[in-house]
Amino acid sequence: MRLLRIAPLLLVCSVTAGAQAPGKFPPDSLVNTKVIPHNTPVPQVLGLMRNISGDLGVRCQFCHVGREGQPLAQFDFTSDDKRTKQVARQMMLMLQEINRRLDTIPARPTPGLQATCGTCHRGLSRPMPLATAMVETATAAGADSAVRAYRALRTRYYGRDAYDFGETSLNQAAFRLARAGKFDEALALLKLNEEQFPTSSGLYVFRGNVALMRGDTTGAAAAFHEAVRRDSTNNEARGRLRDIGQRP
Ligand code: HEC
Ligand code: HEC
Repeated sequence: MRLLRIAPLLLVCSVTAGAQAPGKFPPDSLVNTKVIPHNTPVPQVLGLMRNISGDLGVRCQFCHVGREGQPLAQFDFTSDDKRTKQVARQMMLMLQEINRRLDTIPARPTPGLQATCGTCHRGLSRPMPLATAMVETATAAGADSAVRAYRALRTRYYGRDAYDFGETSLNQAAFRLARAGKFDEALALLKLNEEQFPTSSGLYVFRGNVALMRGDTTGAAAAFHEAVRRDSTNNEARGRLRDIGQRP
């Protein structure tokens, strides 16, 4: 009941104050917040905003109306024009719900871990496993684009939380592409992976599996033999060789 009576009042405040919002940074008070409680101290909100920006690997203008290089006083932080700001609001509500649920897990270790935007985003605005990104790019724009995209992402993000540049990502991407019948794309990604991991045995199991999906038993046998040559304890490769009637 109380909330219902206060809500229209806040709305009126936001409209009037919103008209004079740009011009001062930091602002004196909050104007158009629908998730963050209206009486939250501004410095606390700015701290939250910096955390969010870092978690997503973006700058204020990703969500707010303003340009790179422009003084923050000229930004319109109250505007809801950007889709990303509206999404971020949904995400804030989602995160509150996640943390409420976390509070109910039985025998929770103390201190409990809070979920943050960074739990999922890890420095990316659109959090996506590397394998998924590769499959998407290879499917939409072809193998060469996927290889270029991988190199660019690796240059930019290697050593960060954002993407897993370990051996499995490209193997997984290749496997999914092959399952969708995109063999050339799959082989191109495996070739790229071999460049990164030139002595890998596991990679050749994937090569063999892709060859099998393509109906190329000879190629598959050669790949599985190479996997065993590189690592005689690779039981997956040995098993595959037995499956296709070859002596490991
Ligand atoms: C990922 C999106 C996102 C980024 C990046 C972001 N913000 Fe925000 N910001 C929001 C959302 C959403 C709100 C409104 C929250 C609400 O409705 O409770 C908001 C509200 C604000 C407000 C309050 C505006 C008002 O109506 O009074 C200020 C000030 C602000 N942000 C400053 C910043 C600054 C400075 C940065 C960069 C350091 C930044 N924000 C980065 C999403 C973002
Ligand atoms: C449980 C995981 C998770 C959490 C926690 C999370 N996000 Fe997201 N977020 C996602 C996923 C997944 C997407 C991509 C949705 C899509 O595009 O299909 C996304 C998309 C977004 C986008 C849109 C990006 C774009 O370019 O379209 C914004 C903005 C965003 N999140 C902000 C936030 C903020 C701010 C927080 C913390 C308050 C947050 N997210 C917390 C998973 C999460």
